[in-house]
Amino acid sequence: MKTIGVLTSGGDAPGMNAAIRAVVRTARENGMDVYAIYRGYQGLMEDDMKLFDVRDVSDIIQRGGTILYSARSTGFNSPEGVAKAVEVCRKRGIEGLVVIGGDGTFRGARDLSNAGIPCIGVTGTIDNDIASTDYTVGFDTALNTVKDMVDRLRDTVESHSRCIVVEVMGRTCGYLALYGGIATGATCILIPERKLDLDRDVIEVMRRTQKTGKKHFVIMVAEGVVPMLKEQGIDDISGLAKFIQSKTGVESRSIDLGHCQRGGSPTVRDRITASMTGNRAVHLLLEGMSNRVVVMQKGSVVDYDITEAVDRMTKEIDLDLYRLAMEISI
Ligand code: F6P
Repeated sequence: MKTIGVLTSGGDAPGMNAAIRAVVRTARENGMDVYAIYRGYQGLMEDDMKLFDVRDVSDIIQRGGTILYSARSTGFNSPEGVAKAVEVCRKRGIEGLVVIGGDGTFRGARDLSNAGIPCIGVTGTIDNDIASTDYTVGFDTALNTVKDMVDRLRDTVESHSRCIVVEVMGRTCGYLALYGGIATGATCILIPERKLDLDRDVIEVMRRTQKTGKKHFVIMVAEGVVPMLKEQGIDDISGLAKFIQSKTGVESRSIDLGHCQRGGSPTVRDRITASMTGNRAVHLLLEGMSNRVVVMQKGSVVDYDITEAVDRMTKEIDLDLYRLAMEISI
């Protein structure tokens, strides 16, 4: 293999730049040309790319976001879109691709691999929602951002003896909420992997802790729980704060931490994981592999068939960790 491409796709994640750097430098060090493809699969279809050398990825390991920009391309999700991307790869002489992102990105890689362009996936998503891996690049930084913001919120809710309902991202997965809730000492943690019972999971817990003298409360809510709230006639986290106030008498506010969670300089863990998995992805291409995703299992870098990883594996949340959180949140 003489020429490869690298792109980032889907929601950005801190650590994507560290992965790009690892891919470009590993490729150059092993005698390959490497195209940096802008705006994910959309940019690939539009032939928006540039040859990168080792110095083009200097000073990016510490930067959040992605220097290649990202997109959620709808046009690519069709046989015509894939055919267009293959045509561009053939024209440029691109023989393999490293794609950095989440589930949607890997589905695109599977389609391109099946169409004859070998692809290797590297994780880059704050959600930690990919079944084949213990860990996704970006999760640790996002978690630390949640921790920093909730620590600040705790200061002010404590001063006013209030309750704060905090919504965090994660799509349909509760990892950010569960880990963020444990790290910030949240009184209640609501995740989509558990059936929701507001009286049992929030009101009763608050009342019980009030009896031992607790006066301020952090309620951590995964965004995937909002549809479950709606089923119970509560529109959003602001509605949940009003519900809590009406049931407990504790003055309540709400905040959605939103896209702040996706920004910021990557943590050590994200930089190192991105460097390890980006490096391995290029070596897999050099070994003639295709349609693989490079992930972390028990601290080691391993790889799986993408079709297996995205279509057949399911991500389980550690409900024992939830039990632990509840046991010590009192
Ligand atoms: O997948 C990453 C993520 O940040 C999710 O947690 C969230 O649901 C979604 O992306 C938000 O997407 P957008 O940036 O398109 O609003």
